[in-house]
Amino acid sequence: MKRFTYLFSLTLTAFILAAAVIIGCEGPAGPAGAAGADGKDGIDGTDGVDANATCTECHNEDSDVFVKSLQTGNSKHMTGGAFERSDADCAACHTHEGFLDRMESGEMEASADIKQPSPPQCRTCHKIHINYDASDFAIRYPDPVELWINSVTVDLGVSNMCANCHQPRIPEPMYVIGGDSIDIDNMRWGPHHGPQSAMLYGTSAYEVAGSVSYPTPGGTTHASAGCTQCHMPDAYGNQAGGHTFAMSYEYHGSEEDWVAGCTDCHSTIEDFDYNGVQTQVSTLLDSLHHVLMNEGLLDEDGYLVADDDAPLRVSPEEAGFLYNFKFIEEDLSMGVHNPGYAMALLKNSLEALSN
Ligand code: HEC
Ligand code: HEC
Ligand code: HEC
Ligand code: HEC
Ligand code: HEC
Ligand code: HEC
Repeated sequence: MKRFTYLFSLTLTAFILAAAVIIGCEGPAGPAGAAGADGKDGIDGTDGVDANATCTECHNEDSDVFVKSLQTGNSKHMTGGAFERSDADCAACHTHEGFLDRMESGEMEASADIKQPSPPQCRTCHKIHINYDASDFAIRYPDPVELWINSVTVDLGVSNMCANCHQPRIPEPMYVIGGDSIDIDNMRWGPHHGPQSAMLYGTSAYEVAGSVSYPTPGGTTHASAGCTQCHMPDAYGNQAGGHTFAMSYEYHGSEEDWVAGCTDCHSTIEDFDYNGVQTQVSTLLDSLHHVLMNEGLLDEDGYLVADDDAPLRVSPEEAGFLYNFKFIEEDLSMGVHNPGYAMALLKNSLEALSN
């Protein structure tokens, strides 16, 4: 307490001394002058871009972009490795860069080989880093797609994005029913590996007349589901659904069907072989394979008996049956995409071939 009183009196003394000096050195102030006129307003500067405000619409504490990256990273688009097929013609579907190039030009090929390819990824299907706000999640190419093979336009909503690539390529040479025989010199002749949009819509195959009628193109309920309702339902980890686009997952060592996308419409479904449709399609496809083998057109593995040295001469109808076989085989859904179309093609082709 003594120490405090001592310090306090020292401070007080110093203050009184200082006050005396200030007061002692200055005379009394004169009256204040009148206020001056206001200056002119300056021109407003342009608003600065607030980086945080737009970037954080996507880059924020949510795990959304991360989740989608994990799923996309485990989709076959990324893991399949086929984006090394980057010559101009293949790059049109197998690489992000070649795809944007040909969508811009409207051609069926990229304008050049792609030297530094990347696979289909966020920027392929969305507009990422164009507007730099959340509107960039819009689907990049949502317009209906005119199929290369027969100029039929399919409209699958947001899934039009998929149809641009998952469509038949034009077989080389193409057959024309009622036209001339053709010489095939490629064992892989056919619609190529991804004809799903044409199958879903129900178009492009050789619709030979027979006892089963063909569904109206685009008229099935599955076509109204686009691709996304079945392939992008809730995700199973990063194995199936969501942005993996995959339909099955591994569980304790066995392959299971992810039916999350089916149950809205088929509440009791347990696996994809609903009402035994896949089993029937698989049996009929096997029969068609054997008939075409007996005709000397296909080998045991389902390739055409054709090569450069020994081209295969076929009538347009035979080419049509070969197309139908490859179309259903390469579609990979064993009838699910369009049960009515697959069944009609198989039954009518087999009938026609047995005559
Ligand atoms: C830019 C072209 C392109 C677009 C757009 C595209 N895909 Fe693909 N997709 C491919 C290619 C190419 C492969 C094969 C990749 C590989 O094997 O390396 C593939 C593979 C797949 C697979 C795996 C196939 C398998 O054999 O397991 C599924 C499923 C798939 N895509 C669904 C979709 C869906 C659904 C969409 C639309 C939301 C879509 N794809 C959009 C080109 C595309
Ligand atoms: C119209 C788009 C398109 C074009 C053009 C295209 N592909 Fe494909 N390709 C696909 C799609 C889609 C798939 C995936 C199909 C699936 O697995 O169901 C695929 C699959 C493949 C696969 C099989 C991958 C696998 O894992 O089984 C190979 C190999 C392939 N393509 C090679 C080529 C080559 C070589 C070219 C050029 C000569 C080419 N593709 C041109 C769309 C295309
Ligand atoms: C093959 C095409 C494809 C690829 C690749 C892809 N997406 Fe998508 N994405 C879609 C489609 C189609 C939808 C819409 C699904 C629907 O409407 O059911 C979608 C939806 C989304 C949504 C929801 C959008 C909204 O409006 O709410 C987000 C977020 C998203 N994707 C992020 C990503 C990210 C991040 C990547 C890359 C890591 C990616 N996507 C890659 C096709 C794709
Ligand atoms: C529409 C949502 C969205 C907006 C808005 C957005 N980004 Fe991105 N950004 C993404 C996606 C999606 C990726 C790719 C993720 C992947 O490939 O897995 C990405 C990737 C990135 C990357 C990693 C490098 C790359 O290009 O892949 C950086 C850095 C980045 N963004 C910065 C920004 C900045 C800075 C802004 C604002 C000026 C911004 N982003 C705005 C969605 C967005
Ligand atoms: C009605 C539901 C449904 C719709 C709609 C659908 N798919 Fe499928 N898809 C399936 C089922 C089920 C399988 C797998 C069958 C199996 O593995 O036994 C499949 C298989 C595939 C495969 C082979 C690879 C895989 O995952 O097994 C590709 C590629 C594919 N679909 C692409 C598409 C594309 C592209 C569209 C839109 C044009 C589409 N699908 C629309 C149900 C659907
Ligand atoms: C949007 C609703 C919808 C979704 C999603 C859907 N289906 Fe269907 N499905 C139908 C309808 C409706 C029919 C009856 C035929 C028609 O009207 O087109 C049908 C018919 C079928 C058939 C033929 C049945 C028969 O006895 O001939 C099979 C097989 C099938 N669906 C499997 C599936 C599988 C597997 C999935 C999920 C991968 C699925 N569907 C998703 C609505 C749907």
